[in-house]
Amino acid sequence: MILKEILTKMLTRKSPDEALAGAKDGGLEKTLGVWDLIILGVGAIIGSGIFAVVGTAAADPETGAGPALMVSMVIAAIACIFSALCYSEFSTMIPVAGGAYTYTFATLGECMAWLIGWILMLEYAIGFIAVACAWTNHFMQFIKGFSSILPAWFVDPPAWLISDYRSAAHYYTAQGLEPHTVIPHVLGMPISINLPAIIMITLITAILVKGTKDSAKMAGIMVAVKLGVIALFVLSGAFFIKPENWTPFAPNGFEGVFMGAFIIFFAYIGFDALATAAEECKNPQKDLPIGIIGSLLITTVVYVLVALVLTGLQPTSGVVIPEGLLKAPMAYAMSAVGQDWVAGLISIGSIAGLTSVLLVLQMAATRVLYAMSRDNFLPKVFQKMHKKFNTPHVLTITVGLVGIVGTLFLDLNVAASLCNFGTFTSFIIVCVAILILRKIDPDRERPFKVPFCPWMPLMGILCCGGLMIYSMVIAKGETAILSTLLFIVWVIMGAVIYLTYGYRKNREAERLLQVTTEEIAKDEKNTNIIQ
Ligand code: ALA
Repeated sequence: MILKEILTKMLTRKSPDEALAGAKDGGLEKTLGVWDLIILGVGAIIGSGIFAVVGTAAADPETGAGPALMVSMVIAAIACIFSALCYSEFSTMIPVAGGAYTYTFATLGECMAWLIGWILMLEYAIGFIAVACAWTNHFMQFIKGFSSILPAWFVDPPAWLISDYRSAAHYYTAQGLEPHTVIPHVLGMPISINLPAIIMITLITAILVKGTKDSAKMAGIMVAVKLGVIALFVLSGAFFIKPENWTPFAPNGFEGVFMGAFIIFFAYIGFDALATAAEECKNPQKDLPIGIIGSLLITTVVYVLVALVLTGLQPTSGVVIPEGLLKAPMAYAMSAVGQDWVAGLISIGSIAGLTSVLLVLQMAATRVLYAMSRDNFLPKVFQKMHKKFNTPHVLTITVGLVGIVGTLFLDLNVAASLCNFGTFTSFIIVCVAILILRKIDPDRERPFKVPFCPWMPLMGILCCGGLMIYSMVIAKGETAILSTLLFIVWVIMGAVIYLTYGYRKNREAERLLQVTTEEIAKDEKNTNIIQ
């Protein structure tokens, strides 16, 4: 009997109307217009994926897609577009903070909602840490270009000042040094910190506390810089293309194309973050689908053009692939054709690109946690708004601190893999949730509808599920196995926290609400009797 009651509570749904009513009390300030959304979308999407990961997707000797990278780009974009349509339907129907977490609460109930909120942290918070680590790498690379004018300690700092302990130990071991003799210790603890990432996270946290509108403005500058630099790459690179580099078109066949799509999927992550900011939109019903789908389409066109020029500039198979092509492909390709000045500008663009991704990922993480706190899953203090800036500053600063701590421990590759797992899961759940809500609440007003339902959401589930299972099946090596295990541990941890904290807090809140309602009813009755 008790078990049945617990299960019923765990499956309790929070209807879209309840979610909308909750957002009305207090809520976040509505400042974002359609252009802000497109800028935030492109700001969140274009980052380390196109500036770094694309090299491996194209030219990895065993699995690289080669010139067929442009096909991989389109496959990954198609996998995303189904989910983007589902996000659009939901975000216009329930325009409140929380994104996939809120949609799951409305369809699959309390327990799954908590789990998805927890898993979304893999995408946003852990993805944030991954991009912060990548930011340092790009920044240090950029600084090296000024070695003749800048002091040596700045251009070439010790590894323990620019990386987590694991990476620093790895670096020193590769140099033939004993890590514990080089890395300083305080009270027996090794000190290895990613200082540039910590400074950057602190700055981003300050901007987000100051306000969403200011954050969108800042993202706008970054987006302009990175799009400008990518346009420069495409336009100037086009003059140096050698058509013979486009053959063989797919050196590793279908497997290479599919693997390329899986790797480059990371480059598309971010458009869903817009849905988490739905509550801050002036006109979510009209603007959010344009923002979500528009930013995804703009990015797809940009990515395909980059793939076309990049694979035309450099051979991606049949030769020894240089390290530079794998790590910083666009900059390397321009240097290789003697255009060092373009390569330098591309470095600036990549730093701008990663900065705006950081900004939107941290914002998305805080908005999901904000919605979870509003539903009693997290302490109420996280809902506290800054008196002057009207932003959830306690939460923003907490996420910033978690990011800083994460950079001390997490390895870039493991963090990026975990981020992919989190994203696939949330995309699949959002597609499932659309199908459920269409069934249980068919008459609800839907300002935007996914066309060809149920086929589009089903295709989304198939594409994202297929890519996720494929990545797990072919998982080889320490990073892949570690990230698969960490994903499982993360889900179990989420379930335990829900059962020991979230479930209990929600019941307490229910009891409190019941007492308050009864007291109000009693007061009203007494007033009537006196009258
Ligand atoms: N799409 C984001 C990037 O490429 C995560 O950095």
